[in-house]
This record gives sequence, structure tokens and C-alpha cells, in this order.
Amino acid sequence: MTLPSPDAPLRLGVNIDHVATLRNARGGRDPDPVRAALLAQQAGADGITLHLREDRRHIVDADLAAVMEAVALPINLELAATDEMQGIALAHRPHAVCIVPERREERTTEGGLEVAGDEARLTRFIAPLRDAGSRVSLFVAPDEAQVEAAARVGAQVIELHTGSYCEYCAEGDDAARDAELRRLFATASLARDLGLEVHAGHGLNFVNVGPIAAIPEVVELNIGHFLVGEAVFVGLEAAIREMRRQMNLARM
Ligand code: PXP
Repeated sequence: MTLPSPDAPLRLGVNIDHVATLRNARGGRDPDPVRAALLAQQAGADGITLHLREDRRHIVDADLAAVMEAVALPINLELAATDEMQGIALAHRPHAVCIVPERREERTTEGGLEVAGDEARLTRFIAPLRDAGSRVSLFVAPDEAQVEAAARVGAQVIELHTGSYCEYCAEGDDAARDAELRRLFATASLARDLGLEVHAGHGLNFVNVGPIAAIPEVVELNIGHFLVGEAVFVGLEAAIREMRRQMNLARM
């Protein structure tokens, strides 16, 4: 597999899950995730990310179909490694499938995927998705054992979980933040040496995105919750354009 050059512009995948969260709070159709995806496209997003959760708390099956129909951008479908989700991914064949851990009681994806302890099952889960033409990514903590296992099970991409880094930033715990950043840099480098493409995401905002965007091996960020929240104040297009500006600044 040819990996993108580290000099290539950093891609921004816009996660529209929480547009659906807002819609589902009332029922009905508004705000429409398809409209959000089209606006994100207009604002220069490089991809649209959706997480179809087992409990359908935000994105529902019809959203996936409608967004894939309406948007020209590559679609990154996040899902848990279950038979049901594999069937859905095989039916829709999105550009990318990102496998995430999922627990019903969690509010968001709390940890990275346990790859090292589940290699045989994940290898069987990934192969048909790759055969169907989707690029398979695993959402992992910045942990060397998980990254090495990701390469063994046949993933083409890892997405590094930046949630802990973002929490340390919010708490003002500089020592923990810097230690986590060192782990992110080290595992990004290891992943690339193993032939994996490296993405990152979770919890990113205008303040904390810079150091993550500056990791040279990272070629894509997936960002959702903050952008949808910021859209309440400045609009989705302006929020996305500002995020892109911050990413580009950090990359220089
Ligand atoms: N990447 C993955 C794999 C995720 O599960 C999520 C959250 O759904 C994100 C990125 C985006 O995180 P946030 O909504 O906090 O920006």
C-alpha cells in the first residue's frame, strides 16, 4: 500500500453524529445530517464521518444511506465489530470503515479498541470489508502493543484516540498532557514504520488541535462534537473553516 506523503495537506473528516443527536432530541427531521454533510463539503471538509451505533442514539440507518447518496466526499463509517454492522458496511461499501469499541452505557467512545486481545476475531471481521473495497481503520489508544496488533490483523489505517490528551489539556495537567503527546508521537511513528496510515481524533477543538496536527505521520483528523457545538454560535461552515485554518497553521 502506498502511504500518503507526510508533506500532503492534513485531511479533515467532519463527524456529523451530533447533528443527528440534536434532531433525535425532538424527533422529526431537523436539523438534517445530510444538510450538515453538504455544508461541510462546501466548507472544504475532506470527508464525512458517521458512527452508526448499535443503539442508533444519533445516526440511523437511513442517514447513512441518505448521506452516501447526497455527498461526493469519501464516507468514513464508524462501527463496532458486530455481525450486524459488518453486514451494513458490506451492503453500503463506504470508502472507509473505522472499527471502534462500543458500550451501551458510555456517552461517547471512551477507550481505544482492544486489538491485541482479539486478533483472530478482528482478522476475520476485517478481511471481507477490505475485499469489498473499504479501507479499514482501527481506533486505538496510543499504545504500542495495540498498534502492532493492528498491523497484524490486516488494518490499513489506525486512528489514534486523542481523548486522554484532550482531557489533560482541559484539566490544565501539563505534565500528563505532555506525556500523552509523547505517546501519540511515538505510536504514530511506529504505525507508519509498520506500513499503517495514521489518523487521529476525539475531543479536538481549536485550542488543543495544534500539537496533534503537528504530528508528522498523522494525515487525517476526525472531528465532530466541538464543530457541531461551535456551529450554534458561528455556523457550521465558519467553524469548519476555522478548524482547517488552525490545522494548517500547526502543520507549517
Ligand atoms: N474518531 C472516532 C473514532 C470517534 O469515535 C469519534 C467520536 O465519535 C471521533 C473521532 C470524533 O470525536 P469528537 O466528536 O469528540 O470530535
